[in-house]
Amino acid sequence: MSELIRPWTEEEGAQAAREMFARTFDSEPDGVWSAPGRVNLIGEHTDYNGGLCLPIALPHRTYVALRSRPDSTIRLASGREDGLWTTRLEDIAPGSLSGWGAYAAGVAWALATDGQPVTGFDAVVESRVPYGAGLSSSAALECAFAVALADGAGSAWVGPSPASEEGRARLAAACVRAENEIAGAPTGGMDQAAALRCASGYALLLDCRDGSVRQVPFDLASAGLELLVIDTRAEHQLVDGQYADRRATCEAAARTLGVTTLREIDPSELPGTLDRLDDERARKRVRHIVTEIARVVEFVDHLSAGDVAGVGATMDASHASLRDDFEVSAVELDVAVEVARAAGALGARMTGGGFGGSAIALVPAGSAPAVSQAVLRAFADAGFGEPAFLIATASAAAS
Ligand code: GLA
Repeated sequence: MSELIRPWTEEEGAQAAREMFARTFDSEPDGVWSAPGRVNLIGEHTDYNGGLCLPIALPHRTYVALRSRPDSTIRLASGREDGLWTTRLEDIAPGSLSGWGAYAAGVAWALATDGQPVTGFDAVVESRVPYGAGLSSSAALECAFAVALADGAGSAWVGPSPASEEGRARLAAACVRAENEIAGAPTGGMDQAAALRCASGYALLLDCRDGSVRQVPFDLASAGLELLVIDTRAEHQLVDGQYADRRATCEAAARTLGVTTLREIDPSELPGTLDRLDDERARKRVRHIVTEIARVVEFVDHLSAGDVAGVGATMDASHASLRDDFEVSAVELDVAVEVARAAGALGARMTGGGFGGSAIALVPAGSAPAVSQAVLRAFADAGFGEPAFLIATASAAAS
């Protein structure tokens, strides 16, 4: 099989970031902070509908080495980009920034507008979170900066997860504002909550109606299973427009139905509710959201009953709903999940926003190489580009 993308150890990540900082700024950083990418086990496109989702943090993380400055200048470098990205705190406003640095500078802006003491800083970024793979590399970037800036300012918000829920929830909210208002991506908040509030060995049951969380034990190894992530490397155009379109359709449907969010629709009332929408497309979108929220509950019930293998059928149903009703899958994702199932996966689905990106497959421990091989062959036969693979274990939040 092609090589698995291996996460860095904390030491490797910190060293890579420190070395890059020294090369770039010819000095030592104040410290190194990091935040993980995520995969969502189930509950897709539910976050901006006040629903439930169930992400885990990946062991693959983004590392930020940062040194605060006495003035308001921000200078950033990344192992993935050439040159320095610079701005000043007073120049950050909605619509004023472009480029990757907007995600980091946006966090400084959001923390400052939230009353946190923020100065300028020099920082570098090194990351093991695959970029553009639907694994939330942008949330990992934001959240690594959030803990760096808040911790550096002595904020009490950065206690360990899950012990310091309130502070971490506020940091997550700041990161969402950075992404929505400064980077201009109308995303829903799951990714930032995952990066800041997950715990090692647990999936995070996030209730987006009130932001509350429950840590759900997620131990695949003792069930003889593992979670294979298939990064299809498929890049699709119009992604932002499509995401915003889905969100707008859901919000318009909620208005038509007289509810604050689609979360308020009881699954038992779904048929009658759909009859009140005269647009077939809106009916399909609403059906996905309402059934997907119910599938999160079903998934967690299986886990609580110790029936980890039982989640497979729920994952398959989620994929079908995302493909047929929400229409956010891609042919590469459909092939990946079908081939993974045929090669022995108990269940498989796209994860994240869709239109490309990654799929997850629940496979018997030790069978990831054979499943990956089957996916590689199928992609080659179909003329798709070569996918990448990694193993997802429920890992720790930003620190
Ligand atoms: C992206 C967004 C999230 C969420 C997912 C779909 O990852 O950033 O807020 O909406 O898509 O579940």
